[in-house]
Amino acid sequence: MKLDRRPRRLRELSVAKAMIRECSLHKEDFILPVFVSDHCETKEPIKSMPEVYRWPLDAIVSQIAQWKEIGLNAFALFPCVMPQKKCSKGKEAINPHSVSFEAAKKIKQQHQDTLLIADIALDPFTDHGHDGIIDSSGKVDNDLTVEILCKSAVIAAQSGFDIVAPSDMMDGRVGEIRKSLDKAGYEHVAILAYSAKFCSAYYGPFRDAISSSQIEPIDKSGYQLDPANHREALLELKLDEQEGADILMVKPAEPYLDIIKSAKENSSLPVAAYQVSGEYSRIWAASKLGWLELDKCAEESLLGIKRAGADLILTYFAERMIKKL
Ligand code: PBG
Repeated sequence: MKLDRRPRRLRELSVAKAMIRECSLHKEDFILPVFVSDHCETKEPIKSMPEVYRWPLDAIVSQIAQWKEIGLNAFALFPCVMPQKKCSKGKEAINPHSVSFEAAKKIKQQHQDTLLIADIALDPFTDHGHDGIIDSSGKVDNDLTVEILCKSAVIAAQSGFDIVAPSDMMDGRVGEIRKSLDKAGYEHVAILAYSAKFCSAYYGPFRDAISSSQIEPIDKSGYQLDPANHREALLELKLDEQEGADILMVKPAEPYLDIIKSAKENSSLPVAAYQVSGEYSRIWAASKLGWLELDKCAEESLLGIKRAGADLILTYFAERMIKKL
């Protein structure tokens, strides 16, 4: 054949191939989501998430030391509290002794240079499982919820978290949280906004992990984004940037690569992506059936997320991936 272009030429040259690789994964890309529990004695497996555990306070401090040894330095903490501490208003969110606040204090005492991200939302603490307070009509009351989130964010800052991450999708919360942090003297604490958080079916295993799943699957479509809407996601990203977010996040990640790409193109802020529990568990499930190769699929999914534009990636595969890099 007489061909003007033979793209395969370089592909056959392994040294050149490595040089022209457009994107690669580094250990600095990853943030590990970690579940801390106030009611387990030893690390407790989560059935729907292989190799992921709920950690009691003491165990998590020593586990962090092990993760740091392999080069994992950034963690997003998620609380799992006992049912007796849950109520309709999620009051545990503003208890300074609540488990994730205590965990942050302990971790920071031992590991000053660890990056800790606080999840700011009410769902781990509400008995109905919603991310906010329910009003008399049965809807989540935006402004009342934001007031509590602001208090919770200030307590997180006091406890030593470096970054607060509102994951609730209430309107105007980023701006209000910024004001509250500044007023309390925490200008240096950053906000990672769950800006484009979709109403996804992939959160199921996470809800098991924090025991917020109900008998009926919970409907968060009154605040989370419709999976069909790209332009509305752009609006959310823009608003959070205007309100003072330091990092914009898209969640879930792999089903929303187009949103990650747009976020990157339309903003100068760093873009984070959250590869959520269901994205993790589906790869695991298929590998357990012998249908997919776990590590290869994990790597490919993370590479896709990075290629789309994510600077930071929250993933339950963080430890596994770093060990393979
Ligand atoms: C809620 C929250 C959720 C996740 C993180 N924060 C679930 C939800 O909206 O119900 C999901 C993360 C995952 O699935 O891994 N504040």
